[in-house]
Amino acid sequence: MTRRTDRKPLHLNAFLMSVGHHEAAWRLPQSPAAGGTGVEHYKNLARIAERGLLDSLFLADSPVLMGDPGRRPAGKLEPTVLLTALAAVTSRIGLIATASTSYNEPYNLARRFASVDHVSGGRAGWNIVTTAGADAARNFGLDDTPLHRDRYLRAAEFVDVATKLWDSWADDAVIADKELGVHAGPDRVRRIEHRGTYFRVDGPLNVERSPQGYPLLVQAGSSHDGKDFAARYAEAVFTAQQTLDEGIAFYKDVKQRALGFGRDPEGIKILPGIVPVIGDTEAEARELDAELDRLIRPEYAKRQLADRLRLHPDELDLDRELPLDIPTEDEIEGAKSRYTLVVELARREHLTVRQLIGRLGGGRGHRTFAGTAEQVADTIEHWYEQGAADGFNIMPAVLPSGLELFVDRVVPILQQRGLFRTEYTGSTLREHYGLPRPANRIFETVDTSAGHLGIALTEVR
Ligand SMILES: Cc1cc2nc3c(=O)[nH]c(=O)nc-3n(C[C@H](O)[C@H](O)[C@H](O)COP(=O)(O)O)c2cc1C
Repeated sequence: MTRRTDRKPLHLNAFLMSVGHHEAAWRLPQSPAAGGTGVEHYKNLARIAERGLLDSLFLADSPVLMGDPGRRPAGKLEPTVLLTALAAVTSRIGLIATASTSYNEPYNLARRFASVDHVSGGRAGWNIVTTAGADAARNFGLDDTPLHRDRYLRAAEFVDVATKLWDSWADDAVIADKELGVHAGPDRVRRIEHRGTYFRVDGPLNVERSPQGYPLLVQAGSSHDGKDFAARYAEAVFTAQQTLDEGIAFYKDVKQRALGFGRDPEGIKILPGIVPVIGDTEAEARELDAELDRLIRPEYAKRQLADRLRLHPDELDLDRELPLDIPTEDEIEGAKSRYTLVVELARREHLTVRQLIGRLGGGRGHRTFAGTAEQVADTIEHWYEQGAADGFNIMPAVLPSGLELFVDRVVPILQQRGLFRTEYTGSTLREHYGLPRPANRIFETVDTSAGHLGIALTEVR
């Protein structure tokens, strides 16, 4: 295949999760029974991802014990802390972590991410989530999850405050003139005096503006409000899309909404997830996928599915299709788009609950693709060429082996096709994604045509 240089570069993020995204990956003989989720495991994964020249790696999170620790590995390190350890063993790859806007305060979080950006030399990214589950709410003095709409309203104000805090130091604030005894220039560090619905924050931040100005803003909710939020604030979007048509529709929708907020659609990169299961032959890949599905404990998985669908487990029969009488997306206050994705997948393919569980076991709603390295590269190229993606969130079913296979076998094919970089040309996460460093809204005039943050200037006090 000839190399083409006329294409936009493809972006790849490694979504790292424990010993793999497949629910049962930990039960494979080669998976470490204990300790496989510790810092050494993640350092190894980060080095592999950087060897593959990936744009970034990503750690998901929720402030709650997810799943049944009796049935699967559930303990997790706090991701921004883990990122700093990964920053120390890598030098180029971007480092993205999730943090919730519902269960943090903007000041703490702005400080934490500014610190990661400093520690990593400009490689930090924040996956902004509103946290869907009631279990998490119950760790913060609430009986149930706050309403979906309210969570997104709070998230918008949260990002507004955080970005103001990051901008509360001018880039050239520190002059450190020992002769004159002046450390920061006059009026180059300012209060933000934010007074809003959810937050009152004086500022300034107690951290200087960071190498990237502030971390790359990533978003991962795909409901109506989620897409608006992404279109307004996000620079990269993680999303679960099962079919090419849905992927194209989502891509167009978010880019269109971004235009509506006065942003350049190129300034927001859309990355659907893919769970690649790679074999020497297609049959071998399918067999690995099937082997993983056989290791799922159906009764446990049924409970998880019932929870997502807001049903009692007894309402689900493993060998029948989903009942007809189930809630609509409007009635869901948790993760709306994932709820709809699961129901539509089951209905479209007439899956029994057992089959649905198998399909969700690989990537919790992300698209699983079992095949050879060539076939994985083909599907990536196809989605990319058809306008469903600016890149992909790579979610190996088994780690580290799935990531190694992707890096060593799929990446070279994408490079040969002129789709993916052959060396890092930038040093910050934004540079990898081809995005500009954000202007400082307090100290610099914002060029709105650049289409960066859709926050009205007048909101900055
Ligand atoms: C790739 C990907 C990663 C996600 N990571 C997290 C996460 O780490 N923590 C979290 O609470 N939600 C995470 N989510 C879920 C979203 O934040 C969101 O709750 C969900 O997609 C439903 O959003 P919606 O209600 O706007 O549809 C992730 C979603 C995707 C697609």
